[in-house]
Amino acid sequence: MNILVIGGGGREHALCWALAKSPAAEKIYCAPGNAGISEVAECVPIGAEDIENIVRFASDNQIDLAVVGPEAPLVAGMADQLRAAGISTFGPNADAAILEGSKAFMKDLFAKYNIPTAAYGRFTDYDAAVAYVREQGAPIVVKASGLAAGKGVIIADTEEGAINALSSIMQDNAFGEAGDEVVIEEFLTGEEASFFALVDGKTALPLVSAQDHKAAFDGDTGPNTGGMGAYSPAPIVTPEIEAFIMEKIIQPTIDGMAAEGRPFTGVLFAGLMISKGKTKVLEFNVRFGDPECQVLMARLESDLAEVLSAAAEGRLDQIKLRWQEGSALTVVMAANGYPGSYQKGTLIEGLDAAGSMDGVTVFHAGTKIENGNVTANGGRVLGVTAVAPTTKEAQAKAYEGVDKINWPDGFCRRDIGWRAIERE
Ligand code: AMP
Ligand code: GLY
Repeated sequence: MNILVIGGGGREHALCWALAKSPAAEKIYCAPGNAGISEVAECVPIGAEDIENIVRFASDNQIDLAVVGPEAPLVAGMADQLRAAGISTFGPNADAAILEGSKAFMKDLFAKYNIPTAAYGRFTDYDAAVAYVREQGAPIVVKASGLAAGKGVIIADTEEGAINALSSIMQDNAFGEAGDEVVIEEFLTGEEASFFALVDGKTALPLVSAQDHKAAFDGDTGPNTGGMGAYSPAPIVTPEIEAFIMEKIIQPTIDGMAAEGRPFTGVLFAGLMISKGKTKVLEFNVRFGDPECQVLMARLESDLAEVLSAAAEGRLDQIKLRWQEGSALTVVMAANGYPGSYQKGTLIEGLDAAGSMDGVTVFHAGTKIENGNVTANGGRVLGVTAVAPTTKEAQAKAYEGVDKINWPDGFCRRDIGWRAIERE
């Protein structure tokens, strides 16, 4: 099988690494890839959002399976175009990727199909949005409806804070068109977890549980990021909670999307809030989480190429997933300054020493090769991933790996996994 993975982050490195273990995978390409990905796949210099050139490359190179990593090309219709060119594709068409592309659509779907979520209003009119905030009071959550690269959510402790957010989104266009419409939501408390299911239009196959740490600094403090670390399993997702998620959240969403004429194929990623055993869905994403994908791939024993092909071709009912027992844990190393501004091009050493440890894999999120050296090329740069019998041991091993990496211009949290370790 010739496989093309689209994207160039830690998630795509983990996907390429897992695909490379598949006996069925003859050739793996990644567009655009990164320094780490080039060790397991052939990187091709095409941007992940360049639909026209991706489709042309896939056609010219007899690609048997395309795997679209990030949300932006999916929302823009990359999967539609690949399928139109006759290429089997893992990832939803645009009319299903709207689940992530429009929070307003998503919330209306939840309401229509009785899927448990935060109470909300959707607004295109600023004055009506302000009136809703005044009526509901604070704390309250303001969200740009469209894609805003993870930045479009503002949790406001006061009505004034919420109104300022509305003004910057709706009047000053802080997130461009993504803010033409806003969703205003009830503030939920509890513990967040990430839940993933592979979907082929009708059948949903749950993956093992995972949790990430969104805050930049230790103790889950500081600004929100894309994720500073992750681990699997997430003990908060008990078998009862998993059954609830499948029955009350995932399956009704898949059935609802099919009923709306928007059948979903790919990976459905539910961001959940769990409080006292009660689960609500905060949001859906239409792709793997990053860095959750790294811990999931580290634990997956099944042949990923076979599994993703089955999802793309509507054969998931024939697949049973196998997982490594124990835990996986990823520590993200980010450039100093992230999630604010940071430098690129700084030198990273010691990657081989870390990567050659038994049970440790260093996934690259934002790296590049310059004059034979690996340099930082993004905010989140590396994901040092370890597998071990327990989360505590996986954590120790991951940090041992981190400490072999010499990168003075980067930082990481030192407490990834604390919730799971407390429960162990
Ligand atoms: P989202 O992109 O909608 O998942 O929001 C990003 C982050 O904002 C989530 O991971 C939560 O930490 C937080 N968040 C979103 N919606 C809510 C809510 N209704 N209540 C509390 N926190 C929220
Ligand atoms: N780690 C959360 C995300 O990928 O959105």
